[in-house]
Amino acid sequence: MATTTRVRERFLLACRRQPVDATPVWFMRQAGRYLPEYRRLRGDTDVLSLTRDPEAAAEVALQPVRRMDVDAAILFSDIMVPIAAVGVDVRIVANQGPTLAEPFRSDADVARLRPLEPPEDVPYTLETIRILLGELAVPLIGFAGAPFTLASYLVEGAPSRDHARTKALMHGRPETWRALMVALCDHVVLPYLRAQIAAGVHAVQLFDSWAGALDPDDYREHVLPWSRRILESLAAEGVPLIHFGTGTGELLAMMREAGADVVGVDWRTPLDVAWERVGADAGIQGNLDPAALLGPWDVVARKAEAVLMRAGGRPGHVFNLGHGVIPSTPPDHLARLVDLVHQRTAAR
Ligand code: CP3
Repeated sequence: MATTTRVRERFLLACRRQPVDATPVWFMRQAGRYLPEYRRLRGDTDVLSLTRDPEAAAEVALQPVRRMDVDAAILFSDIMVPIAAVGVDVRIVANQGPTLAEPFRSDADVARLRPLEPPEDVPYTLETIRILLGELAVPLIGFAGAPFTLASYLVEGAPSRDHARTKALMHGRPETWRALMVALCDHVVLPYLRAQIAAGVHAVQLFDSWAGALDPDDYREHVLPWSRRILESLAAEGVPLIHFGTGTGELLAMMREAGADVVGVDWRTPLDVAWERVGADAGIQGNLDPAALLGPWDVVARKAEAVLMRAGGRPGHVFNLGHGVIPSTPPDHLARLVDLVHQRTAAR
């Protein structure tokens, strides 16, 4: 049974579109290389090894929470963790991303995705959650990669700009694509997320970071059904479900349709336009350009206020960046940004 810790509620309330005392804020990649204490702790260890050390992974997730008044923490893991845990040879190459020794190309490759058994295969993830729940005063967000984004890494074998091999498989071998999607849903993502929820995470984010590479028809036909399979299967678990991608301006309504409570949006679509697309019955997360943080503070403040203006004080806004924190971001800008969002939106 999950431990029920009392945590600050405003992030969870906003996910449910309930009134809050101030707009909640957290940042994708709030743990990571922009923090000197992260770089010190990581040293030469690769990220995947770090995620397999529960004490270290919990410490990394706590670092941003100690520095800033963020309203949620995110589990320190990676979308490739459960893929590696079922025996696929994945490495994360610094400044590049996940790479596979043997990329997926055939039905035989799909069979390499055996069902994840969380207690045996990812005990460290569950232990990291246990430690964090004992330490945190804010909710803990669990996460997984969505089937398309995971498939892209498996099929390309490395980060890709055009996702050409992935699309070639999707269009050219629809039966193999389908088998890959089923295996990713049922053998990897669902068991991984169910185990995180059973361990006590307060909310879950499904990262479909590269879904924006697809045109809306292909998204609807080849991807939406699988993201929906995951989100609908988790609906009964009772934790808020956040669905995020980048370059998804034309996909936002479908991302909501997949079953999300909150849709995460990048900076390319103005927040009010995005909210219109997902509908007033869903929450929205975002969407300051992470690169704005590389400018002087007055630019950060002005652009953050523009995001808040577009949110218009409506219940259901979770403030975030449009994608992860960039490693060269000054940590003090982020801490100041948290306070600005809280001050400007404090109920009076
Ligand atoms: O603070 C947090 O957000 C939690 C930690 C987290 C990591 N990966 C740790 C990590 C999260 C949520 C992820 C998710 C993830 N991993 C995504 C989805 C989010 C997104 O950015 O769109 C994706 C696409 C990946 C795959 C991946 N892992 C990439 C593209 C990279 C970057 C490679 C690089 O060096 O720039 C990684 C590595 C990674 N995962 C890092 C971290 C902190 C950086 C590695 C380091 O410390 O050197």
